[in-house]
Amino acid sequence: MLESWEAESFLAFPFYCLSYFIFTLEILIVALKPKNLLQMTINYMSGQKNEILMQRYGFSSPVNPWDVIKFSGNAKIHLDSFLSVFNISGLPEEYYHNKCLAINGDTFVDGAVVAAARTLPTWSDKDVPPIPSAERMAVKELQQECRQMLAQYATTSKQDEKLLDSLPNAPRTLEAAIKYRLHRKLFIEKVIQALEIYQDKILF
Ligand SMILES: *[C@@H]1O[C@H](CO)[C@@H](O)[C@H](O)[C@H]1NC(C)=O
Repeated sequence: MLESWEAESFLAFPFYCLSYFIFTLEILIVALKPKNLLQMTINYMSGQKNEILMQRYGFSSPVNPWDVIKFSGNAKIHLDSFLSVFNISGLPEEYYHNKCLAINGDTFVDGAVVAAARTLPTWSDKDVPPIPSAERMAVKELQQECRQMLAQYATTSKQDEKLLDSLPNAPRTLEAAIKYRLHRKLFIEKVIQALEIYQDKILF
C-alpha cells in the first residue's frame, strides 16, 4: 500500500500537463501496481523539496520526504539512534518506515519524519555510542532553532488553517500560497515533535 506522503509525492509527476485528471490516473496506475513504475515515479521526485515543487508545479506537501531545513548551529544528533527510534531503514536516498515493527495504529512516522532523518544535522561513529545527556542537549538546541524559524512567520499554522477554512472559494493560486506556508510550518512542527519523541526514547 502507498503511504499518504508517497501518494502526495506523485502530485509532481504529471504536472507539466496541468491536469488533475492525468494526475489522478497516474496515482491509480501506480497504486494498481507495477513495481518499476512505482520506482520510476519515486525517482522522479528525488530531491524535490517543496520550494521546487511550488515553483514548478504550483503545490506543496506537509509530508514531503525530500523537504529540507537549514540548521545553522553546531548541535547534532546520533543518526542511527534516530533511525532506530522511528524504525527507519534503508540508505538515505531510500529511507522507508519499517512498518512491520510498528505497533498497529502508530501512524506518527510519515514523509516529514523521513525528511527529518535526512535533514537534521547528525553524527555517526560506529565505535562511539551516543551519550543520552549530550543527545538531549542537541535535541533541545535543534528544537529551539525550529521554534525560532516558526516565530519568524507572521501567522501560525493554526491561523493558516483557519484562514483556509474561511476562504472555501479562494482562487487556486491563493490557496496554494497559503498551503505552501502552512505546509512549511507543519513540517517544522513535526520535526520538533519527532525530536521530542527521540529524546524520550533514547535508550541508555
Ligand atoms: C518501532 O518498532 C518497535 C518494535 O521493534 C515498536 O514497538 C515501535 O512502536 C516502532 N515505532 C515506530 C515509530 O514504528
